[in-house]
Formats: sequence, C-alpha cells, structure tokens
Amino acid sequence: MQENLTTSTQPAKRETLATRLGFIMLSVGCAVGLGNVWRFPYICGKYGGGYFVLLYFIFLAMLGLPVLLMELSVGRAGKSNMVGAFGKLAANGQKIWRGFAKFFFIGNVLLMMYYTTVSGWLFAYAHKYISGSIMSFTTNEEIGQCFDSLTGSWQTSLIFMLFGVVVGTILCCGSLQKTVERSVKYMMMMLFVLLAVLVGKALTMDGALEGLKFYLVPSWDKFSQNMVETIFAALGQAFFTLSLGVGSMEIFGSYLSGQKRSLVKESITIIVLDTVVAIGAGLVIFPACLTFKVDPNAGPGLIFVSLPHVFQQMASGRLWGALFFLFMAMAALTTIVAVFENIIAYVVDEWKFSRKNAALLVGTAIAILSLPCVFGFNLWSSFAPLGKGTCVLDLEDFIVSQNLLPLGGLCTVFFCTWKCGWGQKNFIAEAEHSYNGHFGPFFRFYTKYVLPMIVLIVFAFGYWSTFFSK
Ligand code: ALA
Repeated sequence: MQENLTTSTQPAKRETLATRLGFIMLSVGCAVGLGNVWRFPYICGKYGGGYFVLLYFIFLAMLGLPVLLMELSVGRAGKSNMVGAFGKLAANGQKIWRGFAKFFFIGNVLLMMYYTTVSGWLFAYAHKYISGSIMSFTTNEEIGQCFDSLTGSWQTSLIFMLFGVVVGTILCCGSLQKTVERSVKYMMMMLFVLLAVLVGKALTMDGALEGLKFYLVPSWDKFSQNMVETIFAALGQAFFTLSLGVGSMEIFGSYLSGQKRSLVKESITIIVLDTVVAIGAGLVIFPACLTFKVDPNAGPGLIFVSLPHVFQQMASGRLWGALFFLFMAMAALTTIVAVFENIIAYVVDEWKFSRKNAALLVGTAIAILSLPCVFGFNLWSSFAPLGKGTCVLDLEDFIVSQNLLPLGGLCTVFFCTWKCGWGQKNFIAEAEHSYNGHFGPFFRFYTKYVLPMIVLIVFAFGYWSTFFSK
C-alpha cells in the first residue's frame, strides 16, 4: 500500500503558542506532576533505590523518548487533538484509528478523576503550613490522624479538590497564549526555584549522605525480591510521568507553529527537565527523612505522613513545610491545567464549542466525575474494587497507569509505524524536520518491531505479577 505523505506542510488554522519557552514549559508542566514529586520517590524507596532509577532511565530512553517524539510529531502534523489528528493522518482516512484514539483519549478524563483529589490533599497541606494550623499537632499519632481526617472528611476533600478544578477551568477559559501558556510558564519557573532552594537545604542536613545512599545506591536485596514488579513499575512510571499514550503531549505538538524546531531536541529537553524534577524531589525527601529518623519506606503516605514529622522537628519547619507543599501544589496544578487544556481542545475541535464553553463543560464534568474518588476514602470506603485495602483511587489508577497509558502508547507506535496508520515514512519525515541527524534503518526496525514487543512483554508481566504471582 502506498503511504500518503501527510506531514505538516498542509496549512491549518489553529491557535499556536507564543514562544518556545512556553511550549517547553507547558509540555514539562504536563509531564511534571504527582508522578514526579509523589509517586517517583515512594516507588523508588519501595523497589530498591538505584536499580529502579537505572531501569527508569533505560525505559525513558528506550520507550519514553520515541513515543514522546511520535506524539509530538502526530500533533504537529495533524494540527488537532489526538482523535482529530489520528483521523486526519490515517492512511485512506481509515476510521478505525479515530476510534482507537477516542478510546485512549478517555484516559485523560480518567486521570483527572483521581488526580484532582490527590492534588487537593497537596493544596490542603500547603494551606495547613501557610496558615500554621498543622504546627499544633506534635505527636506521631496526631500527625497521622491529621491526614486521615483530611481524607476521611468528604467535605474537606471536596473543597480542596474543587480548588484545583476551578483554577484549571478559569485559566483554560482565557486564551491559549495569554492565560494557559503564561500561567503555566510562571508556575513552572516558580517550581524550579522552589526545587533548587529545597534541594540546597536538604543536602546540607546531617543525614544527607545516608539519604543519598538510600535513594541512589542500588539495593540488590530489595530489587531481587520484586524484580518483575520493579521492571513494570519503572515502565509504568516512564509512561505516567510523560503522560504518554493518551495524547496529553500530542496536543502541544499541535500548537507549534511551523517546523522551525527539532522535535527530537524538544523531546529530549522535556524528558531531561521532567527527570530533574523527579530526581530533585527524592533529593529533598530522603535526606530529610534520614536526618530526622523518619521511615522513608512509607509508601503513598510518605509525603503526607512521614514528611510532616520532619517539618515538625526542623528549625523553621513551618516555612520549609509551606515551601515544600507549595512546590508540590505547583507541580500538580500545572498538570491539571495542561490536561484540562487537552480535553478542552478536543471539545473545541470536535464538538465546535467556544473555548470558554468548553472549559466550563470540562470543569463541571471533571468536578462531578472526581466525586467517586473523594468518596472512596469516606462514604464508600467499604468498596474495595481490587481487593482488601484498595479503594476507588486504586481502581482508577490501575485502569489509567497499567492499561490505558501503555496500550495507548502501543497504539501510537503502531499508528506511526504501520502503513495502514500514518506510516513510518510520514512520521520520520515529520520528526526529521529541523533535525540535523537522520533516522536510519536501526531506528526504523527498532520502532516498528522491538519497541512494541518490549511494551507488550512488560505489560503482560505486569498483569501476571499483579494478579497471579501472589
Ligand atoms: N505526567 C503527570 C504526572 O507525572 C500525569 O503527574
């Protein structure tokens, strides 16, 4: 079958981003979020530090980079959201690709259905430190109860969840360049400054060396106990942190004007900045935990339970706690704005809504759809969808992280390498614009055959270890 040459040479009217910095910050803002500042450090602690980090780097380079490059290329060539772009670029206008894209695109909505709740907890903690109300809790029990009472109260969780949704909606109501691009750019700059200050502080603590050892020196014992799980966790994290597979990054490719920029270079920049934040978050957390003899293996409660113990014991703990949770809140908020932008772009492109109406519709829908996750910790806490101790959040995260992201990534790989999709020739032509290098036979073979095989094998192992190996 002859591949159609459908690259971005075709003119299309579309809002574009004003500056390169805006594009980078918006893409990094979408990537940097709870995955970096909350999930990465605790998974890293759980799966044996250095080995996990090493595997994560390997997956970022082997899988994250090519899939990100594909998403940005599809976006720039298709000048539309993931669904519209797949529809436009598919060979002979085959509708099936649009159907696949629609299916995986729902992952953005599902992601927001629990992301807003966890982000709400971060906003609540930022508020607790800024107001100083948390400083009256002194014993370990009181600090633990503080988190339980936040998640246990649907009213309080709801208020903070709504805060993120309302801010996301308001910012997306404005124009792409003036409010979305500008606000995320400033939030990301503030995030990097806060990160630098916090890392500087953590590395001068007494337990810095011990913390770094725990974080980065490989522990064969921990790794060998959970080898398959660790591999799958590293793959899942690579997809989650880059929001790959559901078209979150694709949309920013569609907002690029012209082909002046090399998408290879842009993809590497996005991955490096995203990794800097993930590693940086661990550099803050682990030295602090080990300085104050707080368990760094606390799992998801690491940030909400272990770290408040640290701030309680530190000099100027309230200030450091406030800065830390502001940093976390910024990371979460930029992802909310970026993913909202993606969903809104779909409503604008496909349903022909005005941007403002689309933002209001998406904001209202996400607020309502986030309720099950909020209720999962209180009113519906007896509902354990994935077995004892699990809740609605675990189910939603399982669907997104373990299914839609890797399988959506696989779908993008097939689309970009199969002739019945967009085809490798078109994808490479788009990706090579403004790139000084050339994608040779190795890259073609790798992306067409090896890349999908790795994703499939690791995906299958993940299922096996989640459901059958215990
Ligand atoms: N990429 C987003 C994060 O890491 C989903 O939080």
